[in-house]
Amino acid sequence: MSVIADKCPNIKVTVIDIDDKKISSWNDEDLRNLPIFEPGLKEVVERCRNENLFFSTDIKKSISEADMIFISVNTPTKNKGLGAGYASDLKWVESSARQVAEFSQGHTIIVEKSTVPVKTAELIQEILKSSRSSDEFKKTFSVLSSPEFLAEGTAIKDLENPDRVLIGGEDQDAMESLSNIYKNWIPKEKILNTNIWSSELSKLTANAFLAQRVSSINAISALCETTGAEISEVVKAIGSDKRIGSKFLSPSPGFGGSCFKKDILNLVYLCRYYGLNDVANYWEQVMLMNNWQKHRISSLIIQKLFGTVSNKKILILGFSFKPDTNDTRESPAIEISKDLIENGAELLINDPAVSKMQIEMELGLKEFENNNRNIGKWQFIADIDKSANNADAIVVVTEWEDYKNLNWRKLSDLLRKPSWIFDTRGIIPISMLKELSSYYWQIGSPSINN
Ligand code: UGA
Repeated sequence: MSVIADKCPNIKVTVIDIDDKKISSWNDEDLRNLPIFEPGLKEVVERCRNENLFFSTDIKKSISEADMIFISVNTPTKNKGLGAGYASDLKWVESSARQVAEFSQGHTIIVEKSTVPVKTAELIQEILKSSRSSDEFKKTFSVLSSPEFLAEGTAIKDLENPDRVLIGGEDQDAMESLSNIYKNWIPKEKILNTNIWSSELSKLTANAFLAQRVSSINAISALCETTGAEISEVVKAIGSDKRIGSKFLSPSPGFGGSCFKKDILNLVYLCRYYGLNDVANYWEQVMLMNNWQKHRISSLIIQKLFGTVSNKKILILGFSFKPDTNDTRESPAIEISKDLIENGAELLINDPAVSKMQIEMELGLKEFENNNRNIGKWQFIADIDKSANNADAIVVVTEWEDYKNLNWRKLSDLLRKPSWIFDTRGIIPISMLKELSSYYWQIGSPSINN
């Protein structure tokens, strides 16, 4: 919404939320307190806020004044009830639609921005229809689907220069109105019109394909380690085939983020719902491979450290699910850290953007605490050099730029010997790893000195 405000000075954009704490952070004088850390966002908000971009909790007034409303609420996986563990919880979409039905005036275009299961537009339409019939003032609605394809960490760039914008719907006038907003900065050839169900399904499919690529390359990374093939060479070889393409082929400890897991589970649920069990099993395997990769890495760390990490000090570098974000949802660091703590390790966790509180929340364990159980513990560290002193191992979990530039030789020397460096993202050049005083393991590389 900030980027729309930035690109369309003639449009007034109001972002509303029921959470007044969140809205006050968006209105905070100090732009470092915005609720989301995203490169370039601060600058956009600074340019537009209180010019044509407003953040408010006045839901009634904002909805009644709006010509177009983007429903951009979260749709997490249901954790109980029908479809628990797979289906998306649409309660926020539904309550937003009810508020629109209640407070809107005249003609309103509703744009589904949240990632939703196919046919959600029907639910929104149904709710809006019931409002019209019981209202003495004439209200009319058009529902469109326009899913978002931005990735965290590059959100502003992705929005400014998207590969495509998707608009699904039936009402041509409404589609044109939305298209006209995007045409302010996006060439019209990149704006694709589809029917509403294709648009909803395309979003789930795009994420499923991307996640599938990560699971595929991660599966091959394990095979490389055992056969003597080198994953970077395999990636280069297959990526130069234009049909495969070179992007999104980096091996990793597993994909994280709020979207891939949720969307695949949702796709699996949809397939089962429509009786397509084999299709469901096919997509579920992408998730199973991802879980396998995370636990493969924690088991491998334990195994290399002589079969036990009890009371061993291990530095975890990176807790966010990818660099340039403070988002930790579904980050592979969570499972890997939990496994190691469960096995008695003392973790020293560093991340350039994630707070201590956030890590406590994800691990369900306070800093320094071990619940009096026979498990390990963790602490947040800011000084990597100091913490490496006498530690047993370093594990790179997120490929932050800062970590690429560390003095690996010095860090390795500080570790208690025999020590290990585990590079789960392949950020340290193999030529350098070979010269270190520690043993090393790098994802997708046949280990040479161990
Ligand atoms: C993803 C999609 O890329 C966006 O197009 C989509 O709009 C978004 O979900 C969404 O549905 O909101 P995001 O989750 O922000 O974006 O981040 P990605 O860059 O896709 O990374 C996801 C995970 O895959 C990360 O943990 C990343 O480390 C991992 N990954 C990515 C790999 O392991 N290897 C790769 O080659 C690429």
